[in-house]
Amino acid sequence: MATAVSMTAAREEHGKHVVPGPILLLGAPGVGKGTQSEELVKLWGIPHISTGNLLRAHRDRGTALGKLANELMNQGNLVPDELMLEMVDKRLAEPDTERGFILDGFPRTLNQAKWVDHLLASRPGTLPLVAVSIQVDYNQLLRRISGRRNCPVCGTIYNIYFHPPKVEGVCDVEGATLEQRSDDTETCFAGRLTTYESLTAPVVERYRALSRFVEVNGDQPVEQVATSIISSVERLRA
Ligand code: AP5
Repeated sequence: MATAVSMTAAREEHGKHVVPGPILLLGAPGVGKGTQSEELVKLWGIPHISTGNLLRAHRDRGTALGKLANELMNQGNLVPDELMLEMVDKRLAEPDTERGFILDGFPRTLNQAKWVDHLLASRPGTLPLVAVSIQVDYNQLLRRISGRRNCPVCGTIYNIYFHPPKVEGVCDVEGATLEQRSDDTETCFAGRLTTYESLTAPVVERYRALSRFVEVNGDQPVEQVATSIISSVERLRA
């Protein structure tokens, strides 16, 4: 136990000195992009930019974008590119993105990918992005999606099968009642997967053709997936 704790502390100390730059986490719904982002944020202290979370925050504030997004999300469809680009453009302009950032759920279309590649290439001093594709098979994804629960206060991600809270239905950190996402039904998941295969799989192929691309087996314990991602990114940045 003491060894595991000191190894984690040593890894976190080392992580503070790494400039990770922009990292894209790619993969189907439920592969663990949000979960892995939590691990990378702890290590590198760079922001986690999840377009799904940004849209859900709009929905909760009742903005026009949030109302439109809610309808599309519950059908498993994507929000139009022009709205996404405007939202991401604003977020990436914030000063906390200087050492790098984790993009989770964006880009999701070839148009979004071309836009972000162009944007990053035109930002002086920005490292080229590293794309990480996480792979998990269909049956496992279905259990991950149907078992997912989120804390509405701190956003911690749980799973009733794989990572339950200490007290059923209650966040370990905030004590808040956990929630299930409205798009985490079996029917909606099927639609999300179809959308992923037709519009987002080509984005993965675009980045696969570049030299800074890694594929990681997401069907392992969270810590092992994180170790694979971290060592791949650090190797590519060395
Ligand atoms: P978004 O919120 O991005 O959803 P998603 O891509 O479908 O991905 P998820 O959040 O469902 O899964 P994840 O990979 O983060 O998995 P997690 O870590 O939570 O998008 C939602 C919607 O918004 C879209 O459908 C679209 O409508 C819209 N949208 C968003 N971005 C857009 C864009 N760019 N353009 C247009 N529209 C956009 O893990 C899942 C579960 O598995 C959890 O319960 C977790 O505890 C568990 N788990 C994770 N890792 C492991 C492991 N290693 N072992 C066991 N269990 C694990």
